[in-house]
Amino acid sequence: MRRLNDPACRTQSSLVTAGNMFLAVILVLSGRTAVHGQENALPHLRQQGTATQLIVHGKPYLVLGGELGNSTASSLDYLRPAWAKFLAMHLNTILAPVYWELIEPKEGVYDFSSVDSLIVEARRHEIRLVLLWFGTWKNSMSSYVPSWVKEDDARFPRSKDKRGRSMETLTAFSASNLDADKKIFATLMRHLRTFDGDEQTVIMIQVENEVGMIPDARDYNAEATKAFQSELPQGFVNFLQQKGASLQPEVKKMWESGGRKIAGNWEDVFGKSLQTDELFTAWYFSRYVEQVAAAGEKEYRLPMYMNAALIREGYVPGQYPSGGPLPHLLDVWKAGAPSVDLLAPDIYHGSFVDWTTKFKRADNPLFIPEAGLTPRSGVEGLFAVGQFDAIGFSPFAIESADPATQRLTRANDVLSQLAPVILEHQGKGMTAGMLLDRGRPESRFTFGEYVLNTSFEPLDRWAAPVADSTACGGGIIVQLGPNEFIVAGSGVIVTFQSLNKDRPIAGIESIDEGVYQNGVWKPGRRLNGDQSHQGRHMRLPYADFQIQRVKLYQYR
Ligand code: DGJ
Repeated sequence: MRRLNDPACRTQSSLVTAGNMFLAVILVLSGRTAVHGQENALPHLRQQGTATQLIVHGKPYLVLGGELGNSTASSLDYLRPAWAKFLAMHLNTILAPVYWELIEPKEGVYDFSSVDSLIVEARRHEIRLVLLWFGTWKNSMSSYVPSWVKEDDARFPRSKDKRGRSMETLTAFSASNLDADKKIFATLMRHLRTFDGDEQTVIMIQVENEVGMIPDARDYNAEATKAFQSELPQGFVNFLQQKGASLQPEVKKMWESGGRKIAGNWEDVFGKSLQTDELFTAWYFSRYVEQVAAAGEKEYRLPMYMNAALIREGYVPGQYPSGGPLPHLLDVWKAGAPSVDLLAPDIYHGSFVDWTTKFKRADNPLFIPEAGLTPRSGVEGLFAVGQFDAIGFSPFAIESADPATQRLTRANDVLSQLAPVILEHQGKGMTAGMLLDRGRPESRFTFGEYVLNTSFEPLDRWAAPVADSTACGGGIIVQLGPNEFIVAGSGVIVTFQSLNKDRPIAGIESIDEGVYQNGVWKPGRRLNGDQSHQGRHMRLPYADFQIQRVKLYQYR
């Protein structure tokens, strides 16, 4: 078993616990993963060791993704020139919104032409789709609901802020809001089953988009306040009791400081605080989304996920979209919305390593549906897949990128070549990811009898120095055998140690650079001399993304 010695890696090690293995078994037995796939071979999730893989047409699938800007999918003419870019960036999947206002312009009158032509275009380019349901909520607001919903605020009531003002946000505390969303989402999924059930161009669905309450941590609509002042709902009591000692620390602390009560209203049980308001919001949002997701799933069972707007440092509930599927609320969401398979981070700020560490759990496979497109993106994708078995990585507003200047393009080239090898080795302790920069310049991995010490190489020895202080290096490691490794990425130096007491020194037998063509290794240059510092280390220059294979030996 691989052991990892840096903070991100420690979390990874702790994933392989008896509890987690138990959970994996429960998932399989409950039929939410493997069994479903055997039945009808729709896209589904399947466990492989500690990894959960997305299976498409019977095979593991790695999402090399990009998410469209919000309005792009409303005009295929606008989108048309971008397909060539997606292919140039080695993308295999596009994440594209479906807009409620366009598909149900009048109540009960459906127009799926925008969805159908998007699917047809994607097929023409051999690209798969993840569809984003812009339904009741898009970034805390309800701007994508149709005009017949917007204009009838008596039938479709709004959230209210603390001062009692109505907001451009439908309240979660209304049966007619929920029914309308359930109905259209189920209709959409039924349509997808008919239009795409055989071809399966659409492989996953995001339900709503970045839900959360802002600028107050809870809704002050009269129905919401009534619920807040009522007895804790039985579902939430069950959640507290079932989790008990294994509750997430944030919720556990709140529950324990109130004396672990199960009777009373939210403030009786958890005390009066913004955190209590947020907990209440999380529970009722999760229940609303659960019912939307379940209604859709009944029509067409594709993997479903929700995305989270992450908290900026120092912000308190109400200052950020509160109650969404955030790290401290993952347990609440898992209990409240069991039909949602994954809870996923949109990573635009903070530490990529920290966020991915928080979202990768035994019961929550990692998928990154949105991230800022930066020079770091290429390495971030490789890291997430190598270290946390990510199902995929998908920078935002991808149609506006210039493939020629993006480091993502080179990284995706490497990732698409390596995908079959990675997918075969995932979840078995044979992969790792490196994300190294000036603030975090080293990481260390143990594979069998070897330690791999990796460090950031910000210098292009044979080209120009790397000027960007935010630059990062890294990539992916795959163990192919006891003495053989693939290291792929950019801006990394790797040195090797032996853990064998009789042969305590690790030597480099050979390093080759090369490419994978249809899963078959084609070696290029034999790297030695200056390229391996005369046999002292392996080096992947920052100026490029490379795949190298190293064979090691041990001596005394
Ligand atoms: C996160 C949202 O989920 C996206 O739809 C988009 O609004 C981006 N933010 C913009 O940064």
